[in-house]
Amino acid sequence: TIPTKRNVWKRADVANHWQSRAADSHKGSHGKVGIIAGSETMPGAAALTAGAAVNAGAGLTTVNTPRSVMPTVAAHVPEATYFPRDETIESFYENKDGIAIGPGIGFDAKGRERLKTLIDHFEGPLIVDADGLHVLDEMLENVREREHPLIITPHPGEMAALIDASPGEVNRRRFDVAETFAREHGVYVVLKGPCTLVATPSGETWINDTGNAGLAKGGSGDVLTGMILAFVARYENVQPAVSTAVYLHGYSADHLLERGTPMETMTASNIVKALPDVFRRNG
Ligand code: APR
Ligand code: MG
Repeated sequence: TIPTKRNVWKRADVANHWQSRAADSHKGSHGKVGIIAGSETMPGAAALTAGAAVNAGAGLTTVNTPRSVMPTVAAHVPEATYFPRDETIESFYENKDGIAIGPGIGFDAKGRERLKTLIDHFEGPLIVDADGLHVLDEMLENVREREHPLIITPHPGEMAALIDASPGEVNRRRFDVAETFAREHGVYVVLKGPCTLVATPSGETWINDTGNAGLAKGGSGDVLTGMILAFVARYENVQPAVSTAVYLHGYSADHLLERGTPMETMTASNIVKALPDVFRRNG
């Protein structure tokens, strides 16, 4: 087996790779991102993912969600533009610098086709989260043949389902599980939990040491997906972008805790609202 390099992604790494906004830049310079998220029963997933992308620096955010859900999500994220789910996915992905798919979409046949089309044809970084992960095991062949970056963001339960193991086993062998999957399928694996791991296709693993149990609440994963999307769409290299987003997401929770927000009262929305402080103190 190939030896793996394992290190903590530290504050200095965030700073060293920081990409600041050029004075003469325009919204196109900062990433045109697409988010396929939300459904009738889970509009919040789309709102949180899109809100996180907008607040983490994405230049232009477009949300693909059911027509009926668009007004609800737009009320929370007026900065984004909206694209009805029933239109063809081809006209959605063209000209995007990054796409995230999964939060709150459910998993019907059309959703499977959409994901497969993106894996096969979208020529930018693609992030697969949540419900997208539940059907990814049916398309691992397509995943291995994909030439552009694929980033998966499973929590231990989603990782377990993907490799047909138990969550307990994933937790006991989390390094091995993330690294093996990353190498065998040529993807970036963000295995979430306390000390989230980012395993790369080339055999490096970066460990995150920010965050606290205030994040153990529905919605915080959606925020992470939006943040990762904003960073991969405008950073040149995938791993520094992903690790930096993971670091800042946890940092936001730590910042809230330090400023007096008890973990019980922490919310995904507040993780996003604290981003101005988070960016001010990093980068
Ligand atoms: N310490 C630090 N970070 C944590 C901790 C902890 N104890 N617990 C969770 N986190 C972080 C994870 O690292 C991750 O970034 O919070 C985020 C949680 O992400 P998800 O597990 O994807 O949660 P989310 O999608 O927001 O909500 C749970 O997932 O299983 C599905 O259907 C289920 O709706 C539910 C959803
Ligand atoms: Mg999740």
